[in-house]
Amino acid sequence: MSSRFAATISAGTMRIQSAHGISGHLAEIGTFEGRYFIALAHTLKDGERAIGIDNFVWPDEGIKGRLEANLAKFGVADRSVVLKADSLKLRSEKILSLAPGKKVRFFHVDGEHTPEHLSNDLALASACLDERGVICLDDMLHPGYPTLGITVNAFFAHEPSLKVFCIIDREDIVGATKFMICREAAFDFYVEELMRVFPNNIWPMGADFRSGKKALVLSLDTRLADIG
Ligand SMILES: C[S@@+](CC[C@H](N)C(=O)[O-])C[C@H]1O[C@@H](n2cnc3c(N)ncnc32)[C@H](O)[C@@H]1O
Repeated sequence: MSSRFAATISAGTMRIQSAHGISGHLAEIGTFEGRYFIALAHTLKDGERAIGIDNFVWPDEGIKGRLEANLAKFGVADRSVVLKADSLKLRSEKILSLAPGKKVRFFHVDGEHTPEHLSNDLALASACLDERGVICLDDMLHPGYPTLGITVNAFFAHEPSLKVFCIIDREDIVGATKFMICREAAFDFYVEELMRVFPNNIWPMGADFRSGKKALVLSLDTRLADIG
């Protein structure tokens, strides 16, 4: 599940977007009960929508009703659009048709973790993304899913203009790491703005993706190794 720290950095990223005139929707594959979705939906501006997609079968069929109750309880039902669908059967045109007029500025991918699903969901996110938008990937360094990064790397071979600009470090073993991705032209913008907004969370080494500039690493624990 997404951690409070990840939600804070993600919401901060959406506020940076708004402050710089980057407009668009929020979308999430794997909305579940809305924990992360609702936190981010609160940052949306007039005319922007939160698009929640889930197949809503796990852990039981009542999950869609629980999400909708949470959207109402936390005051974001009016700006939300919920779609029950298997992401493997979706097309980007369908997602964009749910809230016409804008593309997506923040797309969280948190559905099924097979290579087939992850590459499909990445392609959907990329096709829906505003030119200056962000794709956020969940569970990237999760010990239970150690090969997800291989799929992400393979995807970058087809979409070389996409770069990881920030790793949001894990809060604990289940509140796992996320990667934030943008087009190369927006890389410096996001790194500089996040460093300005979260100066106390910068892990000094950064992350080397062997693709040019180092990505920012934001963490609750900014120590380097202590070798005594
Ligand atoms: C770990 S939960 C997401 C947690 C949520 N994003 C959060 O941070 O609170 C993963 C979700 O992905 C959904 N999911 C799994 N396979 C899917 C698929 N093929 N299409 C759409 N949603 C899927 C599951 O139903 C589940 O609700």
